Amino acid sequence: MTAAAPQVKTIDEFAQQSEEYQTAVRKIVRSHAINELYGAQVFDEPAIALAPTPYAKWLTCRVAMEEYGHHVRFKELGEQIGIPAGDLVPRAGGKRPLSLFDFRLENWPEFCVLKLLGDLAEILQVEDLLHCSFHPLRNLARMTMPEERFHAQFGEDFCIDLCEKPKSRAEVQGAVDRVFPILPAFFGQAGSKNNEIYRRNGIKLRTNEEMRADYIARARVLVEDKLGLRLPPPAQAA
Ligand SMILES: [Fe+2]
Ligand SMILES: [Fe+2]
Repeated sequence: MTAAAPQVKTIDEFAQQSEEYQTAVRKIVRSHAINELYGAQVFDEPAIALAPTPYAKWLTCRVAMEEYGHHVRFKELGEQIGIPAGDLVPRAGGKRPLSLFDFRLENWPEFCVLKLLGDLAEILQVEDLLHCSFHPLRNLARMTMPEERFHAQFGEDFCIDLCEKPKSRAEVQGAVDRVFPILPAFFGQAGSKNNEIYRRNGIKLRTNEEMRADYIARARVLVEDKLGLRLPPPAQAA
């Protein structure tokens, strides 16, 4: 964080910040509010029906509950900082959703891999917000982080179980091959102007390139070292 970055402790102080600062924070809060709801609707809630045992259903219900809860919290903060309620939910003709949400979830191993690798990407995003200059967003990140870690651990634990049998091990590899390549694009373009504004204002710490490299390195440890599977190359252009 640069020395010039403000520390914004309250919603009232937020209202006194520059237009650039306010717009940047609104952009981040809005994208989290939308993506958390999208994810809960297209992955976590449908996964309850795919979960193979009562135990897996129970934990999947908890994951779905928490992802909806993340949306609710980000939406509340968004409304407090002046984002219209209609802009905080996915809608037809609105902001284009992440390409991740084009992925069609069809089976349980895919969901476990989505939690392993998709929630790892979310953890990296939330890590930067833990130090955010806008304290209400920092506090929200601190509340959200233990739950995101639980989701990624859920993915890891179930993937490890699935990898014990050859058939389901092949399904996990197939899911990694389909899910992983689309995820590095989640971190945005190299040399992003938005990211520069975030860093200048102490809203984020790292560049998109740094986060993407860190993400790929951490995904490699999970997939290759922990699961003993192959990590495919990232997709070319986003
Ligand atoms: Fe979440
Ligand atoms: Fe999550």
